[in-house]
Amino acid sequence: MVDIILLGGPGAGKGTQGELMQSWLPIPRVSSGDLFRDNLARETELGRKARGYMEKGELVPDEITIGMVASRIAQADCAKGVVFDGFPRTVGQAEALDRLLREMGRGVDVVLNIAVDAGVLLERLAGRWTCSRCGEIYHRLFSPEKVSGVCDKCGGELFQREDDNRATQERRILVYQEQTAPLEAYYRSKGLLVDIDGERPPAEVGAQIRQAVEAAL
Ligand code: AP5
Ligand code: MG
Ligand code: ZN
Repeated sequence: MVDIILLGGPGAGKGTQGELMQSWLPIPRVSSGDLFRDNLARETELGRKARGYMEKGELVPDEITIGMVASRIAQADCAKGVVFDGFPRTVGQAEALDRLLREMGRGVDVVLNIAVDAGVLLERLAGRWTCSRCGEIYHRLFSPEKVSGVCDKCGGELFQREDDNRATQERRILVYQEQTAPLEAYYRSKGLLVDIDGERPPAEVGAQIRQAVEAAL
């Protein structure tokens, strides 16, 4: 069993790295952002509650977010561990995750702190395109698709996320610094934090991550 947290600002590469990890670590990636976007698309009650916060780049309140993630990790495919992407994002969420995992006889094994400068984050978010069918993540300059607008993997159509406008991107970065960055100290004090240089090319970031996870197992 292994429970891993990908910590990092918007555009740090949590989704990209979470996907790369799937090739050598057969446990699901649970992205709270993806869960919210799925609820938005299906127009559920949860999606309706989350929409306003997401559009502004604010965090969805803890009680909504924690309940959503708790029911996701209670599913059978999460029994051997989870790669958490974008959760926890507040100290309240981190404490709730500790409790949830403890009840399952588990605990956080390693926290990968993907460090990327704010200027680089903006550059990445501005060029991001995502596959509407399989979720594969591209970048106009850094990892472009082969045929413009079409996913290499599944042929799906690429789109830009609604919260990837400049104002929301800047707000998300600020919210990260104010509300999520304190988690670095939270996990460092528990001896769980490993610093990853997120400004290297994706494969090199992936190699640092693999080394850190294997050292923690
Ligand atoms: P969420 O979906 O989690 O968005 P985010 O944190 O803003 O992070 P991103 O998904 O934008 O970035 P990423 O780190 O995954 O980067 P990616 O791999 O795509 O959350 C969205 C919203 O939902 C929040 O604002 C909030 O409202 C709500 N929410 C979610 N979780 C919540 C929670 N726990 N509590 C409360 N509210 C919550 O990469 C970005 C781009 O860079 C891509 O184009 C990629 O190709 C490129 N790239 C990646 N790595 C590299 C590299 N090494 N070199 C060059 N380019 C790279
Ligand atoms: Mg993401
Ligand atoms: Zn696809």
